[in-house]
Amino acid sequence: MFAAVRPANARDIAPLRELARNTFLDTYAEGCDAARIDAYIAEAYSHQALSAALEDADITVLLIERAGELAGFLQLHADDARTATFDADTLEIARLYLDRRAQGAGLGARLIEAAAERARTLGKRRLGLGVWRQNDRAIRFYQRQGFEITGTHRFDFAGEIHHDYTMHRPLSHHLEIPA
Ligand SMILES: CC(C)(COP(=O)(O)OP(=O)(O)OC[C@H]1O[C@@H](n2cnc3c(N)ncnc32)[C@H](O)[C@@H]1OP(=O)(O)O)[C@@H](O)C(=O)NCCC(=O)NCCS
Repeated sequence: MFAAVRPANARDIAPLRELARNTFLDTYAEGCDAARIDAYIAEAYSHQALSAALEDADITVLLIERAGELAGFLQLHADDARTATFDADTLEIARLYLDRRAQGAGLGARLIEAAAERARTLGKRRLGLGVWRQNDRAIRFYQRQGFEITGTHRFDFAGEIHHDYTMHRPLSHHLEIPA
């Protein structure tokens, strides 16, 4: 089925938060309690936080839609000072979530390609991300997309400290050709 990628705007905030909440419950319910997920979503996906992200020149939020329906989204952070985990040559994939019904259909790969395109435009050399260590499906997915585990970083999940894996993937067009 045809899927289209486009930048998010203010009208997308409510459906985006709903998709994030449902996907968090589906993905993390085994490892985290629902109350903590709700606390995290209320803070990190508040109208104010998402509006600020949409207005921030260092942040890109892209949506993927199938048949006009929101199927997932991608949030990219270009500013290395924000987390101190990723260097100035790395574009961070800060969020990548697909609705459960849209998983397993190749849309994640489409969004990784969109991230790589954005990274090239910004003159970055690689993509980087953090992933919950127990999220085996996502880790396998990122490995299939050319990412490797490179270390760990601290992630504050509504007051619960997680030590997530960091993963990186070079941008192929930056492979150096000897003169
Ligand atoms: C991780 C994610 C971005 C991958 O994108 P995707 O487009 O689903 O990737 P793929 O098409 O390669 O499929 C991923 C997995 O779903 C499985 N899958 C296949 N059909 C499926 C279906 N109908 N429904 C659900 N999963 C299905 C695939 O077999 C694969 O699992 P495997 O690694 O065990 O083989 C996406 O699945 C997702 O958003 N998951 C939930 C949120 C999440 O974990 N985000 C990453 C946070 S760091």
